[in-house]
Amino acid sequence: MIEAYRLVDKLEREHSLSLSEYKLLIESENEALRTYVSNKAKTVATSIYANFIYVRGLIEVGNYCRNDCLYCGIRKSNTNCDRYILDEEDILNCCKEGYDLGFRTFVLQGGEGIYKKDFVTSIVQKIHVLYPDCAITLSLGEEDKETYKEWFDAGANRYLLRHETASKGHYEKLHPENMSFEHRMQCLRDLKNIGYQVGCGFMVGSPYQTSETLAMDLKFIETFKPDMCGIGPFISQKDTPFRDMKSGTLNQTLFLLSLIRLIQPNILLPATTALGTIDSKGREKGILAGANVVMPNLSPVSVRKKYALYDNKICTGEESAECKNCLSNRMRSIGYEIVTDRGDIKK
Ligand code: 5AD
Ligand code: FES
Repeated sequence: MIEAYRLVDKLEREHSLSLSEYKLLIESENEALRTYVSNKAKTVATSIYANFIYVRGLIEVGNYCRNDCLYCGIRKSNTNCDRYILDEEDILNCCKEGYDLGFRTFVLQGGEGIYKKDFVTSIVQKIHVLYPDCAITLSLGEEDKETYKEWFDAGANRYLLRHETASKGHYEKLHPENMSFEHRMQCLRDLKNIGYQVGCGFMVGSPYQTSETLAMDLKFIETFKPDMCGIGPFISQKDTPFRDMKSGTLNQTLFLLSLIRLIQPNILLPATTALGTIDSKGREKGILAGANVVMPNLSPVSVRKKYALYDNKICTGEESAECKNCLSNRMRSIGYEIVTDRGDIKK
């Protein structure tokens, strides 16, 4: 047990541990250790970002998807999924609403292959011209390097592509045969080489995850050095093959958020909607464990329920302004403040 505390101190100093040390830490998690690492992580986060929380306006552009990830509610073989796709006017309306609410980052997220390459290029150009002071983030899945480059040249600054797991064996248990671990990792490297600020990430408590695969995730984050890392609990979705699998826990997610903060002090770390879904104060607890970003939903209320990656997702009935206010209040209640800012990583 003392060994675990020693490892946390080492991680705080050196920002690196061996795979077996990460594994031991993960296996040593308990309330006292969580409190210990969480206090350190919170201090590290506030030493860099003060009590400011960055917001990103999340626009869920559509739920058509060419992939069939076993965990995901918008997988292509889910015939119960009520499909939608936003057009240019819808997206620009979301941006307008978001800008007026003080958002300076827009995240266009959707199922893989949802739009033709040229459509994305053109909408990115338009947003870039209309809102030159905003960061444009894409989260549209795996593409080839040329496509990523074209979108970058059009004005996209950031790309979110969760690696999902850093273990090839585990990856293959979460995805159908036609998806490849190597290609996903290649995409992340391509995105970084093109010049995007890149976000990776994974689900906590996904089926077949072990302390070993989690240790590999932490090692991957340590060596890849993403600008952002999105983690949230796995939550089962009733129309997927993983419908009966148990969900990830609040506590393990909080513990991992804190460890990631110590691995990379300046990382952008969102307290995710999934975290807010498994616990009514999940996002507040995430911030207090070292997260510094929240991503309220800007999608039109008419489509929100349809972007059902997992069951019981929160914020599906609220207007954008309500979510923004709700989050401002939640953050204020724990001594933090949402800022009108692009929210770039502090180097
Ligand atoms: N539970 C939690 N997160 C999920 N995601 C997809 N399905 C689920 C689920 N059932 C996450 C994946 C994906 C991101 C957009 O949402 O990590 O990369
Ligand atoms: Fe959406 Fe609270 S953040 S209702």
